[in-house]
Amino acid sequence: MSEGTPIIQIRGLSKTFVTDHEIMALRNIDLDVQKGDIFGIIGMSGAGKSTLLRCIALLETPTSGTIEIEGRDISTLRGRDLIALRKQIGVIFQGYHLLMQRTVRRNIAFPLELEHKSKEEIARRTDELLEIVGLSDKANAYPSQLSGGQKQRVAIARALASNPKIILCDEPTSALDSVTTKSILQLLTDINRNLGVSVMIITHEIGVVRAICNKVAVINDGLFVEQGEMPGIFQKPTNAVTRLLLGLGEEDE
Ligand SMILES: Nc1ncnc2c1ncn2[C@@H]1O[C@H](COP(=O)(O)OP(=O)(O)OP(=O)(O)O)[C@@H](O)[C@H]1O
Ligand SMILES: [Mg+2]
Repeated sequence: MSEGTPIIQIRGLSKTFVTDHEIMALRNIDLDVQKGDIFGIIGMSGAGKSTLLRCIALLETPTSGTIEIEGRDISTLRGRDLIALRKQIGVIFQGYHLLMQRTVRRNIAFPLELEHKSKEEIARRTDELLEIVGLSDKANAYPSQLSGGQKQRVAIARALASNPKIILCDEPTSALDSVTTKSILQLLTDINRNLGVSVMIITHEIGVVRAICNKVAVINDGLFVEQGEMPGIFQKPTNAVTRLLLGLGEEDE
């Protein structure tokens, strides 16, 4: 099936950090995320997951290789084009990264304030976003007054504020209990289906991938060791790292 231009296309992406020695965090990564995908990236700690997400989010500069968003090489964009691209990509993190001195409403409004939207438009859009994430009754609360799941909902609403086409999620549920995790994953699925937002989700938990992803790549030591469609790819895993992540021992079949 021809799927058209990928929303994210990565070719030959490498990232080497130089400290007192060289760390090859990403090695020659190729990746296609199609519109509408919920794409999981799974791997152990230190595998390079966050580095990959940070390169796509323009928070890190690749050492080599290309990242295209809807066919445009992001390293070539400047000025207005770069600002427009940043609006296309929402990011959420395990630690929420909320502004503690601002209410829920004003956290969600923050990106819209940066875009110099009118007061009326900000109020209208914030109400809409509060509704989408189910926090209308917490609009005037401060982050310190919220549970972890509620904080992540605020972060999701803020990430959606500028109507992005993609949401990048770095371990969004790793600090949450299993019931709250389920509700956040359900919210991400609803956003994907109802708003047509493509999702990339980084995790070390196989349950997260099984719950929501239609595709997955397994990353180990900066390399993609396996990638494909769910659930087929995990039916007869032969790769040792994949088996480890699945909790399969030598003797399990
Ligand atoms: N700014 C940096 N400077 C030097 N080394 C870094 C930097 N950021 C990441 N690294 C190294 O790159 C490798 C990949 O790190 P990364 O944070 O991408 O892993 P990860 O898969 O997200 O791990 P975790 O699951 O623990 O979050 C690690 O060896 C890490 O120490
Ligand atoms: Mg990480």
